[in-house]
Amino acid sequence: MTGHDPDRVLIFDTTLRDGEQSPGCSMTRDEKLRVARALAELGVDVIEAGFPAASAGDWEAVHEVARQVRGPVICALARCNTDDIDKAWSAISVAARPRLHVFLATSAIHREHKLNMAREEIIRVAVEGVRRARSYCDDVEFSPEDASRTELEFLAEVVQAAVDAGATTINVPDTVGYTTPQEFHETFSYLRAQVRGIENITLSVHCHDDLGMAVANSLSAVRAGARQVECTINGIGERAGNCALEEIVMALATRAQVFGVHTGIHTQRLYPTCRLVSSLTGMAIPRNKAITGENAFAHESGIHQHGMLRHSATYEIMRPQDVGLTRSHLVLGKHSGRHAFRERVRELGFELEAQELDEAFTRFKALADRKKELFDGDIEALVLQIETGTGGPWTLVSLTTEAATGADARAVVRLRHADGRAVEQAATGDGPVDAALTAIERAIGLPVRLSKFEVRSVSEGEDAQGEALLTVECEGRSYRGSSVSTNIVEAGVLAFLEVVNRIEQSRAARRPRVAAGAA
Ligand code: KIV
Ligand code: ZN
Repeated sequence: MTGHDPDRVLIFDTTLRDGEQSPGCSMTRDEKLRVARALAELGVDVIEAGFPAASAGDWEAVHEVARQVRGPVICALARCNTDDIDKAWSAISVAARPRLHVFLATSAIHREHKLNMAREEIIRVAVEGVRRARSYCDDVEFSPEDASRTELEFLAEVVQAAVDAGATTINVPDTVGYTTPQEFHETFSYLRAQVRGIENITLSVHCHDDLGMAVANSLSAVRAGARQVECTINGIGERAGNCALEEIVMALATRAQVFGVHTGIHTQRLYPTCRLVSSLTGMAIPRNKAITGENAFAHESGIHQHGMLRHSATYEIMRPQDVGLTRSHLVLGKHSGRHAFRERVRELGFELEAQELDEAFTRFKALADRKKELFDGDIEALVLQIETGTGGPWTLVSLTTEAATGADARAVVRLRHADGRAVEQAATGDGPVDAALTAIERAIGLPVRLSKFEVRSVSEGEDAQGEALLTVECEGRSYRGSSVSTNIVEAGVLAFLEVVNRIEQSRAARRPRVAAGAA
């Protein structure tokens, strides 16, 4: 995989696997396909599309990504057992460039308490897993899970066995985000010194962010010879998340003289890709997030602004346009034509198909009738609604609310289902959002509980649009949704409907499959 360029660091994106495992970040099959296509455009080398043995829905999503997305290697995860590996292979064998990724925990704590396996057994099972994967595929990655808490000599022994059994990539995970940059540098140096033939395989790093060191630990591994970094868009992932793709890529690019390596990422695609994933998962990008947060390139203090006016390098180490932030203060309004709108959409990093552009322009005109000026944030939100719309089955037909000081609010909601049903419900509540969401719950009859609701402005001015972000619990899973409107109650209702639609789609995906190959 490393080819002939020893200074190239491969970017292995696991947004669709480790990222999607994060609570509330689950995506439907079509959403995963959208993300996979965006990742291919971004220029990632490997897409880990999922864990096919986890569920029929996972199998199907991985299979579709493998069938439809060209460019990057498409990888599927499997434990070291026959059933998992066979399912993973049946899902990705259609890919132009498939990879099987098998893993097995190696640390004492996992051996004793999770697996109940002795060291020799771990080696035997790892070897069998790698061999079985190699019987299907030439590109096989092996991960000793919880490597950073594994005794070093034993780690080297397992890695040696996996290399001898035919693994072509060895990935070293800091599964619980426990290691430090210095320690991980030593781990990688030790493996490179001890394992015979390691120079012929790709050494990879996979870090979690429990102590906020995922990017620093990954960079340290790169300095010690790792040539693949596993990461996720916006750093989403188990618990505190994974190494953030946008951060590691920009660190390697901005400090190229320190690291002496490069990636194949088209950095101008970073911002649109991060926004897309945020919108699809409903997981907002924090305002102060490195690289893509709203404040990442904002300069507030007078001294900083003065410096910036003199020379932008005084306070900026990267240019916003290098990460795809092409925001301008160019304002569009109701007299702006289709051409100006299309150009702005392109400059913001979105490629819409003709039909999507027509829809976006119609919505733009409707919004411009309600709002004097449309800023980049408005246009971005509008395009993302089209790109990420769940496509039903439920749509909002009408919403009426009444709210007065000191009295319960009342809402009447009318919805339509794709099968033709129309339902109307009224409810009262503690404010118009509460009343409207209660009315929807009653109308649809889903056992949901709203656990979080936030509203923030996406653009400037008194008539700025509000983005509603909410988290809903249903049948032991959490779902996030978001929507935008000049009316924040409507934004809340649309975000809630997005979640309801996602729940219905994921229930449909979890129904037992009839076709062969799936779990
Ligand atoms: O964190 C971890 O150990 C993993 C492995 C499956 C690579 O995600
Ligand atoms: Zn992980």
